[in-house]
Amino acid sequence: MTSDKIQRVGVIGAGIMGSGIAEVSARAHVDVLVFEKTRELAAAGRARILRSLDRGVSTGKITEREREQAAWRLRFTSDLEDFADRQLVVEAVVEDEKTKAEIFTELDKVVTDPNAVLASNTSSIPIMKLGIATTAPERVIGMHFFNPVPVLPLVEVVTTLKTGRAVSQRAESFASDILGKQVVRSSDRAGFIANALLVPYLLSAVRMVESGFATKEDVDKAMVLGCAHPMGPLELTDLVGLDTVKSIADSMYDEFKEPLYSAPPLLLRMVEAGLVGKKSGAGFYEYADNGRATKK
Ligand code: 3HC
Repeated sequence: MTSDKIQRVGVIGAGIMGSGIAEVSARAHVDVLVFEKTRELAAAGRARILRSLDRGVSTGKITEREREQAAWRLRFTSDLEDFADRQLVVEAVVEDEKTKAEIFTELDKVVTDPNAVLASNTSSIPIMKLGIATTAPERVIGMHFFNPVPVLPLVEVVTTLKTGRAVSQRAESFASDILGKQVVRSSDRAGFIANALLVPYLLSAVRMVESGFATKEDVDKAMVLGCAHPMGPLELTDLVGLDTVKSIADSMYDEFKEPLYSAPPLLLRMVEAGLVGKKSGAGFYEYADNGRATKK
């Protein structure tokens, strides 16, 4: 049975972005099923969402009752077969084309509704590369959220040469009418709109530090105080994750062969060293367990 209003959502991956997408969906009164590979990863994802809901209560954004109801709407599974009845699935796993394509191949087999929306939250991989992993690329679309998902109001909707009109309308209406987000539409090019502008800026900031041109503190301070950005580019690189910034840079470089998009050696070395930013406790800055920077 299909209904136009999306009430059953699936999220693949309970990392930072997947947890955020699951949280805002559950807060929007939608039934949410989250896939994680192991019980441990599912437990970590649930804990992350509950912490964020608690924060919502402590800052007065939601009531205790809304938190309970949102938590109650979230279920976890490690079996993709359980996604058969989903009307919309958002894939939010690691930024790796092969891994994502395998998931789309599976979802294509499992999700029964021919009008279901199979969306990727990829930061930069062209969506058509995921569409061709399925037998029905008209169901495949990009729905790109921004971190922190509960705070930032944007979703980039990326349609491919094959995305069906009904699917793009459903995706847009879910983002705007149900989640209350603002939608921008992008063509299907690596980086879409926001990351195509943001990532070269972040890479330029890394190059400034790498060359000794300015300190990380001064680069960040310049953009916060001089350009009214909420955080500087190196702190933002830590928030996004240095590994994710590298993956986005790689996809964009692969697509355009533009030297500005190539990841600088300092970024590569830090990723190799495991200094991937806030989620690992250290990147350009160091972070306590509560996510606050301890050394700036
Ligand atoms: N969940 C719920 N609410 C949260 C939250 C979370 N995880 N994190 C912050 N908030 C809320 C706070 O409650 C607070 O609300 P209030 O103003 O109504 O009281 C508000 O957000 C601001 O939070 P804080 O006061 O704790 O902290 P800051 O004022 O320092 O803001 C920030 C933190 C929201 C992260 C802000 O610095 C910011 O917007 N930074 C830029 C983030 C950005 O650019 N993100 C995009 C990255 S690119 C991306 O995601 C694309 C991907 O493909 C790479």
